[in-house]
Amino acid sequence: MKGNSVIYSLFISTSLFLTNCEKADEPVKNNKIENLLSQMTLDEKIGQLNQYSIGAELTGPGAKEGQNKIRYEQLKNGGVGSVLNLLGAKNARETQQFVVDSTRLGIPLIFSYDVIHGYKTIFPIPLGESASWDLELMQNTAAVAAKEAAASGVMWTFAPMLDISRDPRWGRVMEGGGEDTYLGTEIGKARIRGFQGNDLSDITTIAACAKHFAGYGFSEGGRDYNNVYVGKHQLLNTILPAFKAAAQLEAATFMNAFNDIDGVPSSANEYLLRELLKGEWNYEGPVVSDWNSFGELITHGIANDKSEAAQLAINAGSDIDMEGSVYIESLKQLVEDNKVSEGKIDDAVRRVLKLKQDLGLLDDPFKYFDEEREKNTLLNADHLELARDAGRKSIVLLKNEGDLLPLKAKNIAVIGPLAKDKDSPIGNWRAQGETGSAVSFYEGIEAALPEANITYAEGCKLSIGPNNFFNEVEVEEEDRSGFQEAINVARNADVVLMNLGETAYFSGEARSRSEIGLPGLQLELLKEVYKVNKNIVLVLMNGRPLTIPWEAENIPAIVEAWHLGSMAGHSIADVLTGKYNPSGKLPMTFPRSVGQIPTYYNHKMTGRPSTDPGMVFYSHNMDIENSPQYPFGFGLSYSTFEYSPIALSKEVINKGEKLTVSVTVKNTSDVDGEEVVQLYIRDVVGSITRPVKELKGFKKLMIKAGESAQVDFEIGEEDLAFYRKDFTFGTEPGDFEVFVGTSSSDVQTATFKLN
Ligand code: BGC
Repeated sequence: MKGNSVIYSLFISTSLFLTNCEKADEPVKNNKIENLLSQMTLDEKIGQLNQYSIGAELTGPGAKEGQNKIRYEQLKNGGVGSVLNLLGAKNARETQQFVVDSTRLGIPLIFSYDVIHGYKTIFPIPLGESASWDLELMQNTAAVAAKEAAASGVMWTFAPMLDISRDPRWGRVMEGGGEDTYLGTEIGKARIRGFQGNDLSDITTIAACAKHFAGYGFSEGGRDYNNVYVGKHQLLNTILPAFKAAAQLEAATFMNAFNDIDGVPSSANEYLLRELLKGEWNYEGPVVSDWNSFGELITHGIANDKSEAAQLAINAGSDIDMEGSVYIESLKQLVEDNKVSEGKIDDAVRRVLKLKQDLGLLDDPFKYFDEEREKNTLLNADHLELARDAGRKSIVLLKNEGDLLPLKAKNIAVIGPLAKDKDSPIGNWRAQGETGSAVSFYEGIEAALPEANITYAEGCKLSIGPNNFFNEVEVEEEDRSGFQEAINVARNADVVLMNLGETAYFSGEARSRSEIGLPGLQLELLKEVYKVNKNIVLVLMNGRPLTIPWEAENIPAIVEAWHLGSMAGHSIADVLTGKYNPSGKLPMTFPRSVGQIPTYYNHKMTGRPSTDPGMVFYSHNMDIENSPQYPFGFGLSYSTFEYSPIALSKEVINKGEKLTVSVTVKNTSDVDGEEVVQLYIRDVVGSITRPVKELKGFKKLMIKAGESAQVDFEIGEEDLAFYRKDFTFGTEPGDFEVFVGTSSSDVQTATFKLN
């Protein structure tokens, strides 16, 4: 190694120090960072704040500008602090070696990547996995994703996405934990724990990123990148709790959002970044821009040029410039012109160096790169088994009339454009999940039912032309030539398994839809098949809630199977055959129609909630009832469960006291099954209007056939607190309702009082 004497002398002196004092404590770490910082030129500091996408998977417009030469020079001279999309232990090692050798201080790069639901082994899309309500499972899949990614040289993922969203038109709902603040927060925490483990410097863990901070899930009309208008109470009570929890859990990094909120783009939002995140919440990690989101301050129309954009972003508290070249081109001059203080730059650099230190890179820049480990880790059998288990636990049984499921029939037709599709189940944001590498639905069924007579017809196509991350999906609307074959196979079967829905690229970034029914000719195909055989099990694969009113009315059995990842076909077969009794519950409401959106369970009362017969002047649509198709928290099982009335440990609680809410749940069927018991609360009168109910707890438990289980929830003051009229956080005395049940709309009710 050459040309990096300064940093290496630091490595040596610190590691000697460490052996003398056992483990490093905070002040020691900070000393090391301060030492390093004191040796850095302003250019070198700014370089640490510059991030580029280098490698195969470029996303976004910046990729096409052909800046390779400039970037190479910057990399060589300490002008780049981290990179994204550069993968593989070998590639990463070579690049790291180049940077360590060629730069004056030899400060290593961080390698980052969007590891959203697996790296090479692909797990269910996050929305799907959220339907498992199984936090341990989600922590485990994130940990395996981290292990695989880290083995490939990745140290930092841009996940989890913590954006709460109530709009299924927004394609990015597939990346998150659904519509609910409480569930979304718990899921976010589980994923952060999974990615980061207990020690960031462990070579099997990676840094997480709480994104997108904030409000991105509330883009107007569900159209991606659109503007956001939310009131401060909604921001504090609905959108920010997941981020606050992530900050408290020390998610290593945060990411800006593309959107503005009421006129202020997130990357330039001082209130969010300096006042809340770095102020009130004492957050010490770096905030990375979203892809060129500093540059987009110009497009938003709040900056004239890159220099103004850089000034706004750094002053607001954004630390790392992903792909914008805004900081690298402008910050130096801004400091010289006294428009940005060097102190602010130092603060940002400290955060980056601290992350490098926490990852262990300042002690060994090459610790993550081991090709042997990479080979043995990716796609190993245990990971695939976990993917299968995660897949089946994510499935939601929406309807099962006449006990069509679990399958008894031996003469089975499999129909639909997704049935032999080995790619769509991998879903969008698939990291290194290979195109066409999933176990298809058909393969799963065939493997699970070797004795059955299985026929197949595609029926119709779903899209025409390229179907990938970069291209618009063109829906097939014309070609009905496959219908007849589908009708023929359906006619001769005892049961028809129809596999319909969306391909991987109907959801994800920039995949908003104005209609969210089954795309293309699928509903028409379904109706034709229904004419000849009504014994249909509709297996949906999709990245968002769909509107399926006709299907819900007519099709006897409906299974929501999302995009379940590498082992999708096996996971679905496990459920359809009864090898696994479905236990998933919807993390997001299924509306009856697009016009109903937003439809979510924890809405406010409004002044006119009446459903009195004959009353017209209330909040509703003339042409559709207010209730959703399938509510939040809903999901059936092959078992049936009966809930006892609620028992409360007391009916009045004083501040500081706790209350126990108990129910007994009986499995009244002859099959063992898991149930997600859900607890909701309503604050009847508040200083601001309050939701009709809010999830505040849940427990997933196995109850054996015929047996009962008592479930206890403890409610304390923190469960009743919210941001009040004056924006302070706390409780308000008065009456509360408590609900326990099997979904947000099927509950037992009791009341208590808070003094
Ligand atoms: C997305 C981010 C992602 C980034 C890097 C952006 O377009 O909004 O969520 O982390 O690209 O790939």
